[in-house]
Amino acid sequence: MKVTVFGIGYVGLVQAAVLAEVGHDVMCIDVDEAKVENLKQGIIPIYEPGLTPLVKKNYEEGRLHFSTNPEEGVNHGVMQFIAVGTPPDEDGSADLKYVVAVAQTIAKYMTSHKVVIDKSTVPVGTADKVRGVMLEALKQRGVELNFDVVSNPEFLKEGAAVADCMRPERIVVGTDNEDVVDLLRELYEPFNRNHDRMILMDIRSAELTKYAANCMLATKISFMNEIANLAERLGADVEKVRQGIGSDSRIGYSFIYPGCGYGGSCFPKDVQALIRTAEHIGYVPRLLKAVEDVNDDQKMKLPDFIRRHFGEDLNGKTFALWGLSFKPNTDDMREASSRVLMEELWKRGASVQAYDPEAMDEAQRIYGHRTDLRLMGTKEAAMQGADALVICTEWQSFKAPDFDIIKNVLREPVIFDGRNLFDPERLRKRGFTYYGIGRGASLNIA
Ligand code: UDX
Repeated sequence: MKVTVFGIGYVGLVQAAVLAEVGHDVMCIDVDEAKVENLKQGIIPIYEPGLTPLVKKNYEEGRLHFSTNPEEGVNHGVMQFIAVGTPPDEDGSADLKYVVAVAQTIAKYMTSHKVVIDKSTVPVGTADKVRGVMLEALKQRGVELNFDVVSNPEFLKEGAAVADCMRPERIVVGTDNEDVVDLLRELYEPFNRNHDRMILMDIRSAELTKYAANCMLATKISFMNEIANLAERLGADVEKVRQGIGSDSRIGYSFIYPGCGYGGSCFPKDVQALIRTAEHIGYVPRLLKAVEDVNDDQKMKLPDFIRRHFGEDLNGKTFALWGLSFKPNTDDMREASSRVLMEELWKRGASVQAYDPEAMDEAQRIYGHRTDLRLMGTKEAAMQGADALVICTEWQSFKAPDFDIIKNVLREPVIFDGRNLFDPERLRKRGFTYYGIGRGASLNIA
């Protein structure tokens, strides 16, 4: 099938590459000329396992095209994906200006029936808005053309985006036109073979499903972080509690890992956007607000431990930081807890020596101007001359370090672990002071 994808960000690029891989003919349109040129050379703007070879191969084999020409994009596909960003506006609501611009573009150039598919995470009611914008633009052109607007949210995770897209757990389709369903079934057929993963519903329910999914996951994390804070004060170990409750199949083991707070491009933004949606319709979303508050506080957990250990004034202190990305297997630092931590340390006069397996360029881009941040080539180098070690991301390569080296290199054998990578008892026996999240039993700080 001929498919056009507007917006070559995370969602758009992965979706386009995966659709091309199964044989569809996919045209990607973006306003960013440099990005489009780079993609043609095989230079991918994000780090995502498996994506670079997939894009290169499908581009070279002629199933994946990149262009900045919107007219070309509209002419190409019957299916027109909107996969542009929906950044928060000044009050935290999702800003729809890019979505609206694409809708206007499609209506401006279309000459035949189009199926417009909202892939971006958009508030409930956006499909109606897209429809309205398009009808208006067609009216101005003085033409009458049929089109459909479908909500088809994306559930991919960064770091596993290609795999998630290739093997989706569900394909949510919100539509008010039965005829469109067949087209979507044909489009997604290769991903929907062994059992039917397509869940059909009305458009508004599909739009809400995306927010509900992300907010539910964020809720699980904040709940567990709250339990961690209780465990710390009650002299219990949240890691034991996690296993104890995860074994209940109704609860499950996933997304109950306590830590130094969730980050990324989705959870913080989507929780806030749903709060704003609720407020706009006069509903007070008490639970969602608590999820957000707990997370904001959780990002202060490591700075608080550091204050508890070293005192308020950190002038002249240097901290080794392992992990800058908001989670492993990505170079994405959006809303990462490492940023809150570094900014707190700098505020109190400390400097940071940081290492991340993938996010060094991103850190350089964001913080390159700072003289109190040194980006180091290895995790060992980050510890040279540092007073203590702080861990913000659970990269695999951090999980079994040589503790003798750590002990010899640090000025003081202290580890602040925001992801509970180590056994507190074992570290204490080796002579470390170890701060984990919710590990009151071993910290003995009840
Ligand atoms: C998320 C959703 O998982 C995905 O379905 C949606 O499409 C986009 O948003 P992503 O932002 O890529 O994906 O990351 P995810 O793996 O969900 O992690 C989000 C954050 O939660 C990370 O900062 C992670 O460290 C944190 N997290 C996750 C926890 O603190 N504890 C957990 O148990 C799980």
